[in-house]
Amino acid sequence: MRDNARPVGIVGLGSYLPERVLTNLDLERMVDTSDEWIRTRSGIRERRIVADDQATSDLAVEAARRALADALLEPTDLDLIIVATLSPDMPFPATANIVQHAIGATGVAGFDLSAGCSGFVYGLTVGAQFVATGLYRHVMVIGADALTRLTDFTDRTTCVLFGDGAGAAILGEVPEGRGFLSFTMGGDGSGASLLRMPAGGSRRPASAETVANREHYIKMNGNEVFKFGVRALADGTLEALQKAGYGPQDLDLLVPHQANIRIMDAAARRLEIPWERVVSDVDRCGNTSAASVPLALDRARREGRLKDGALLAFVGFGAGLTWAACTLRWTDTPAMRQQATPA
Ligand code: UT7
Repeated sequence: MRDNARPVGIVGLGSYLPERVLTNLDLERMVDTSDEWIRTRSGIRERRIVADDQATSDLAVEAARRALADALLEPTDLDLIIVATLSPDMPFPATANIVQHAIGATGVAGFDLSAGCSGFVYGLTVGAQFVATGLYRHVMVIGADALTRLTDFTDRTTCVLFGDGAGAAILGEVPEGRGFLSFTMGGDGSGASLLRMPAGGSRRPASAETVANREHYIKMNGNEVFKFGVRALADGTLEALQKAGYGPQDLDLLVPHQANIRIMDAAARRLEIPWERVVSDVDRCGNTSAASVPLALDRARREGRLKDGALLAFVGFGAGLTWAACTLRWTDTPAMRQQATPA
């Protein structure tokens, strides 16, 4: 950040998982797969999926309410809502506007951000600029996806991987020396076809033919995305750390995108970061796309792993191809401080 910029950090955090659980055993009954294959190849045991009447905004709204409570803020205290998602409720209007209305953030600006599974870290990078410059006081960044709505449950190569959920972070000014220390983002559209939903946009509008061809579902070249993912997690983390003047040995906690435990493990090995310093909840959530980093972060907090002053790194990769990483010094949120203070 520039020297004259205001220090920006996370002043409220919340997450939400839908109630319905889809286990590997359930999937065994749907496609030719096995619990053993899914666990050993991906680390996933179960994932949560939306109810029939739930959409991405419903997940985002719950996470947003929890983040507001954590920040001890009212919805109208927000200045901007960014929803990072690749499964918006519909192509337009933006899911951010639907969330804004549902939480009662009257008149607050909002837009969606499409950067695949890197979306939440992209969103933090974008949102932090508004606070750093002093233009806005509070920006809510939500990573929310209901990928199971875009998943072909007859395609065993993808349907075992994804889950639904949402996480929200409110960005605001924090004490000097705390908050975000560095950001890095990247993209490579030459890999756009490796992970995509081919139909339903302006190139191939939805038609009876696209539906019959199942082109409105996620298509992925898993092997290529795997290799890219390992590189992106390792290189992104290193670059963000170096920009902040640190190395992997200084890191207290790495919160990577939760696509596959083998991808996280390979990246951690490359960086020589011991596994105890990596946050993973892919076992119970699967790949929740833009929601995975804030969901994992919130889980780490519930487990008491977020210490005031700890050096954290978030890193994501995904469709685009995109990647993004950032580092920050964690500062306890207002609700955490309140709980820590004896009444
Ligand atoms: O958020 C970013 C987006 N996604 C990702 O990051 C995913 C990245 N990729 C991956 O995580 C892994 O590539 C997968 C988990 C998707 C696949 O693991 P893999 O070790 O790369 O397996 P593979 O694709 O090389 O497939 C190995 C075998 C194949 O059989 P043959 O050709 O060796 O006979 C597949 O047909 O496993 C088969 N296979 C399955 N078997 C049982 C593929 N999917 C399944 C399945 N159950 N669900």
